[in-house]
Amino acid sequence: MTRSVYVNGDYLPETEARVSIFDRGFLFADGVYEVASVVGGKLLDFHGHTARLQRSLKELELRSPVDMDELLAIHRELIARNAVDEGMVYMQITRGAPGDRDFHFPDPEQVPPTLVMFTQSKQIVASKTAETGIKVISIDDLRWARRDIKTVQLLYASMAKMAAEKAGADDAWMVEDGFVTEGSSNNAYIVKNGKIITRQLGTEILPGITRAAVLKYAAEAQMEIEERAFTVEEAKEADEAFYTSASAFVMPVVSVDGVSLGDGLPGPVSRRLREIYLDEAVKTAI
Ligand code: PDD
Repeated sequence: MTRSVYVNGDYLPETEARVSIFDRGFLFADGVYEVASVVGGKLLDFHGHTARLQRSLKELELRSPVDMDELLAIHRELIARNAVDEGMVYMQITRGAPGDRDFHFPDPEQVPPTLVMFTQSKQIVASKTAETGIKVISIDDLRWARRDIKTVQLLYASMAKMAAEKAGADDAWMVEDGFVTEGSSNNAYIVKNGKIITRQLGTEILPGITRAAVLKYAAEAQMEIEERAFTVEEAKEADEAFYTSASAFVMPVVSVDGVSLGDGLPGPVSRRLREIYLDEAVKTAI
């Protein structure tokens, strides 16, 4: 089946979708995005994603060409057209195509933003990786200083994944001034003596929507949480570790820089949180 994608008001076969070579997303990475997961044909944490999208847009003085109700309707239409039962919807808004290359932002009255969206069908609930856990390496965090904005400048995240792959690992946790910031495309956590430790929000990390939901459910389940930065050494000595993201939910981490955590298997806190998150998020899916 040819995938049906969305470009600026039209649903098109993916082979017919076009964006200008002058689009500022292409030339300047001048755009923001969101990835929302789909389970049973429904969207998880959707209102969290639109709230963060609106914040990202505001920080970059960008506008959305559609309101949030319309955005939900497009998500649903794409899920229906592509018969997505499980997977993700990707959406991206860039500052449009002024018709030439110019560093200055174009007048938004003259140049409308570009909105593209597409679905990715993928099994994410029943995950083999979540059963075995994943290995991470640590690398320097060389990204820009406004990581709280979900921009499409993902080159370093991509390089981080490649560095992990070359090292025989699955992902990279980035380190700045001796402390872990976050994973290449996820938020990072360790567990020590039953306590869940994750970096506090700030401009250094993306405020994960899955993070917010997981911390809420963990607090409701009377689990102890500490929001503070932790070091790679602490991570290596942790009882367990995990990461969260919309495309992986709660993913156990079983080794850091080649050092096995605990017994080298997904830990009980990570497993329980994955279960709780899935239960609760699916219940509130729309
Ligand atoms: N990535 N930190 C970074 C740098 C991310 O790119 C992501 C998400 C997260 C987790 O955020 P959330 O829980 O809202 O997905 C944290 C998405 C999934 C991606 O780029 O595909």
